[in-house]
Amino acid sequence: MIPSMFSSSPKYTQKLGYEFGKTLKGGELVLFSGILGAGKTVFIRGIAKALQIKSKITSPTFNVFRVYKCVFPSTGKVGKIYHFDCYRLKKMNDLEELGWNEIMQEENSVILLEWPECILDIKYLKKPIKVSILINREDNGRVVEIN
Ligand SMILES: Nc1ncnc2c1ncn2[C@@H]1O[C@H](COP(=O)(O)OP(=O)(O)O)[C@@H](O)[C@H]1O
Ligand SMILES: [Mg+2]
Repeated sequence: MIPSMFSSSPKYTQKLGYEFGKTLKGGELVLFSGILGAGKTVFIRGIAKALQIKSKITSPTFNVFRVYKCVFPSTGKVGKIYHFDCYRLKKMNDLEELGWNEIMQEENSVILLEWPECILDIKYLKKPIKVSILINREDNGRVVEIN
């Protein structure tokens, strides 16, 4: 586990995402926790930047997921990023219908998933990396933990 990091601006949260993004190699499953407006999507924009994604990243709440072509900076390999927003889902079956099991097994793909807690019976085929973002009410800063 990496100690908590503090972010006082959206720009810095994006920078933290960028630094984290540089460590991705393909095959990772990353889960994001934090209330609405915590900064999960901001952090993911930083990841996208590190992986040379040019499209604008917006929360895929209505589409559930979006997929982007990317380049992993540490290896130069081409792959894909799947950005999921499970806010509107309830059960594992909802994810499975979207091809979850197949996506999970793609070697050069990374899954970035917001709102895993909405799927009560969620199951993973691999150990997830967990990113949690808390809002510090006193100064509106963010505490980011990765473990
Ligand atoms: N330190 C900070 N880090 C991230 N976002 C922040 C911060 N301070 C304020 N914000 C604002 O909070 C909002 C976070 O939005 P978003 O990333 O979409 O949240 P989530 O995806 O967690 O619902 C943005 O409007 C952003 O400008
Ligand atoms: Mg979001």
